[in-house]
Amino acid sequence: MNITLNKKLNHHQKNNLYRHRRIRKHAETQVNFSSNDYLSLSKHPELIQSFQTAAKKYGVGSGASQLITGHYDAHHDCEFAFAEFLKRDRALLFGNGYMANLGVIDALTDTGDVIFQDRYNHASLLDGGRFSKANSQRYFHCNMEDLDKRLKKSSAKNHLLISDAVFSTDGNITPITTLSKIAKKYRASLMIDDAHGIGVLGKNGGGTLETCKLSQEDSPVLVCPLGKAFASYGAIVSGSTSLIETLIQFSRSYIYTTALPPALAAANLTSLALIQKESWRREKLQSLIIFFKEKAAERGIVLRPSNTPIQAIKIGDPIKAIQISEQLYQKGFLVSALRPPTVAMGESILRVTLNTSHNEQDIVRCLDAFILSSQFKNTPHPNPLPQGERGLAVPERKMRSHKTQSPLSLQEGTGRARAKNEISRNTVPSPLAGRDWPCQGEK
Ligand SMILES: Cc1ncc(COP(=O)(O)O)c(C=O)c1O
Repeated sequence: MNITLNKKLNHHQKNNLYRHRRIRKHAETQVNFSSNDYLSLSKHPELIQSFQTAAKKYGVGSGASQLITGHYDAHHDCEFAFAEFLKRDRALLFGNGYMANLGVIDALTDTGDVIFQDRYNHASLLDGGRFSKANSQRYFHCNMEDLDKRLKKSSAKNHLLISDAVFSTDGNITPITTLSKIAKKYRASLMIDDAHGIGVLGKNGGGTLETCKLSQEDSPVLVCPLGKAFASYGAIVSGSTSLIETLIQFSRSYIYTTALPPALAAANLTSLALIQKESWRREKLQSLIIFFKEKAAERGIVLRPSNTPIQAIKIGDPIKAIQISEQLYQKGFLVSALRPPTVAMGESILRVTLNTSHNEQDIVRCLDAFILSSQFKNTPHPNPLPQGERGLAVPERKMRSHKTQSPLSLQEGTGRARAKNEISRNTVPSPLAGRDWPCQGEK
């Protein structure tokens, strides 16, 4: 076995794709531009206090799965509070976002159904499609015409449309209102993962759906992982009572795993209260995004179109991306390089994430460090047409493809759709135009 494994590892290394974990220490000096703790709540005294108090009360582990004896009042209270916050009938607390996505797709699909996913969806969604008995197709990124065409061709009885709300690599937002209209037109179910929007977007932090004024009827399945702006752990799935009861009965990643520690459920509840109470955090974050984009433009640094805290800078070559990331680290900044398979071949990026603990000086110093990096040469955008897939843990050919779709037509279409998308995404109003995030990609 080891010989085969070593061969695979060597091949990975040769392609400059080998990954290493950075051991972080408590008292590091680097400014972190790679954290998803967008509102900087993870060290909030009230959050720490509630976690400690609940750990004293319940102990550390939940001791069993939800349906055995692991479901505590802390879980229950958390679910009720999130249902109310999100204006949805019910909510269910999963172990984390990855398990929520697998479990929802598993419970909602069966043999003969077809799942349509944006091709840049998060790996957990793509894996959900991969493990489901349904067929999967990936439509071109944010391309609603392509999705519509695919649905028109499909003869399946049940369709599930799935998209990230805010795409985790580039930070752009899916054209969610159109997506919802298409779902209604074809009587398809719609599942939205708002991992990077919840807490951050919307006046009350209600995420992308709040910003775009979409109700439970418009977007019936909503997944909100809580490890990002909520600075905790777990994931809330929300929707109708029928949806939640179906998940409790049939979602394997909900049923067959130890329940989230109740102290984390209690912490999630406190996070939710803080997110609603401390709206200044969202306002500060938005000012920092605007400032970052202005200062990047002044320095000729080309960013992917995004009005969210996720700001991506294309580098292309994975070695260069790693070298720049390392040089930034030496200068005092943590900025992650994303390489294939997280992004497509030749599409490596540096992914900057902003959070409310940053200040304008940090941003200016970080952008100056980019300019000073010996490897940094910004690649103009729009990019050459991407080859292959992006954000794909699952290569297309390994997904069960729909009978009407040839791999060739997919490859030919990718570029055109992408180029078209770039144009429409670039016409989105700049965040300078308003105090709230626009629904990106919407006309
Ligand atoms: C869009 C999206 N969905 C789901 C997840 C998985 O959530 P979790 O980290 O809670 O497993 C992530 C990130 O990790 C993500 O970015």
